[in-house]
Amino acid sequence: MTIKQPSYHTNMKIEPWICPSLLAGDFGDFRQSAIKAQNAGADALHMDVMDANFVPNLSMNSDVVAMARSAVSIPLHVHLMMIRPEFYLEQFIQAGAHTLTIHIEARGDIPALLRRIRALGAHPGITLNPETPFATLAPVLELVDEVLCMTVHPGFGGQRFMPEVLPKINELHRRRMIKPGVCAFRLAVDGGVDETTVSQAAQAGADVIIAGSALFRAADMSAGVDKMRRVVAEAHAAHACSTI
Ligand code: DX5
Ligand code: ZN
Repeated sequence: MTIKQPSYHTNMKIEPWICPSLLAGDFGDFRQSAIKAQNAGADALHMDVMDANFVPNLSMNSDVVAMARSAVSIPLHVHLMMIRPEFYLEQFIQAGAHTLTIHIEARGDIPALLRRIRALGAHPGITLNPETPFATLAPVLELVDEVLCMTVHPGFGGQRFMPEVLPKINELHRRRMIKPGVCAFRLAVDGGVDETTVSQAAQAGADVIIAGSALFRAADMSAGVDKMRRVVAEAHAAHACSTI
């Protein structure tokens, strides 16, 4: 099976990445849901891992990631909502995580964990909750390939997008521009993203769009993915940005 390479490594350009979140898929048939996302033209599959501690819910484990790895060839974008991610990095990367994002609010030596993710062969990402200020990212910004801004309180799908996070996304977008048009990391948004809120997120600067309910419940997932990609591409034409 050919594994799709990340766009930022193959051509070094920031391009829209539309990632359906499997949390909104069919819990009775995750394999088919993963295939559905790939067939709809998704750039990656987002997978939420919850530990019933960092967030008040449980979701999927590394076996589900391994199953998805065997089912589809698009990258697996794995979001660890875990209080102690250090014990699990290796198993999720071995299971096939392409990008592994941990929370800045988690316990442990976060910079060391991000370095370890890279050393283990995955792309390190850092995620921050809606209320967490971007200043908390200062010690890790140079270590990550992606910053993920939560636009809901993590733990559940189907929540309302929090527009109050948009200024933070925009601040991060401006700070990731090392010089005009050159960006240091990808900027992702997760939670309540739909056909309307995607344009707000994209205009603020997000290029990795994670959407569960809006895409899995769309009558035509493929049209939903295409539309989101168009919206992001149009917003980014206004502030073109390549990775270094
Ligand atoms: C929430 C998860 C999200 C969730 C998004 O804790 O991190 O990835 O699946 O779902 P929607 O798009 O329905 O808000
Ligand atoms: Zn998520």
